[in-house]
Amino acid sequence: MARLTIHIAAILMLFAILSGCDPITRHKVLSTVFDGVPTLPPPEEICTQYADTKLTEYKEELAGAKKAAEAGDVSKGSVHQPYEEKKCDNCHDKNKDDGLVRPAKQLCLMCHKGFFKAHFEHGPAAVGDCLSCHVPHNSAYTTLLKVDRKDICNLCHKEQRAALGLHTKVAERKMACADCHDPHYGTTPFFLK
Ligand code: HEC
Ligand code: HEC
Ligand code: HEC
Ligand code: HEC
Ligand code: HEC
Repeated sequence: MARLTIHIAAILMLFAILSGCDPITRHKVLSTVFDGVPTLPPPEEICTQYADTKLTEYKEELAGAKKAAEAGDVSKGSVHQPYEEKKCDNCHDKNKDDGLVRPAKQLCLMCHKGFFKAHFEHGPAAVGDCLSCHVPHNSAYTTLLKVDRKDICNLCHKEQRAALGLHTKVAERKMACADCHDPHYGTTPFFLK
């Protein structure tokens, strides 16, 4: 009897999670609970509501940044706090060949200590090449990105996806890669959020 109650509770909980709107959580839960669930959530199950909310939030942010950039004011996109506070010397040293207090690949982690909080690290971030995606001073885009958030991954990832069906649908729905993947690290090999 007690076992049965536990089973019912577990099933109810599962339904609660599955009726939620995050395709990745859904997938994780399904593949933990049932063996033999396909490794991928079927693309049509990628929740449009989830994508729409993210997109609306992001579009608003970006519209503000674009307007500001057109008016010549990039500080509305994003500005790095030490740059804004004119702490140039925290990063720059005129006496060094590259003009920086530390080599570029060590510079960012000097302040961003304990940055990696999970086992799997994304290639360029893992080697300290933060500048492959970010700029150090200010940007017309969000979070000091070099290019628009929705284009940033495509700077390098032009190779065909193994999970092609899923990613084609994702592209059609205009989701950003960073809606599902963390750009820096994660607890799964593909840094899924
Ligand atoms: C967080 C660290 C950091 C701070 C703070 C910072 N810089 Fe920089 N700066 C850099 C890095 C890194 C580069 C090299 C960028 C590259 O090679 O892509 C750079 C490049 C430059 C350059 C070379 C031209 C350019 O824009 O690429 C100038 C000039 C410069 N910084 C001036 C300043 C001044 C003035 C300040 C203070 C108001 C400042 N920086 C604050 C990190 C910083
Ligand atoms: C002198 C210390 C210092 C250095 C060096 C530094 N940062 Fe930062 N950074 C900060 C502080 C302070 C903030 C604001 C607080 C926070 O988000 O942690 C910040 C915030 C950021 C943000 C978030 C900005 C936003 O709009 O949310 C990014 C991205 C970033 N830094 C990237 C870098 C990169 C890339 C480098 C190397 C070129 C770097 N940082 C080097 C101190 C530093
Ligand atoms: C592959 C591109 C890429 C690389 C390399 C990269 N970042 Fe980022 N970073 C991003 C993106 C994209 C975001 C914004 C995430 C979002 O909007 O969901 C971001 C956001 C951030 C933020 C804001 C807070 C957060 O964690 O989201 C900080 C701080 C930051 N990056 C620091 C760094 C540092 C330090 C490095 C180097 C160790 C680095 N990044 C390397 C793409 C990158
Ligand atoms: C500067 C180039 C660069 C950018 C920009 C970049 N990546 Fe990567 N990415 C790499 C490299 C290099 C690897 C490691 C490839 C390998 O180990 O086979 C990698 C690996 C990955 C992997 C793991 C693939 C695997 O098979 O293990 C994922 C997932 C990934 N990137 C997602 C992203 C996402 C999402 C973005 C945008 C936020 C992004 N990348 C932007 C260079 C980049
Ligand atoms: C709806 C969420 C979602 C979005 C958005 C998304 N991905 Fe993925 N991605 C996944 C999932 C789930 C996997 C794991 C597939 C598996 O387990 O085989 C994955 C796997 C990957 C891999 C490794 C395996 C492969 O298929 O090559 C890379 C690299 C990758 N994604 C890059 C990207 C890039 C680049 C973008 C943006 C163009 C992106 N992803 C957008 C969910 C997403």
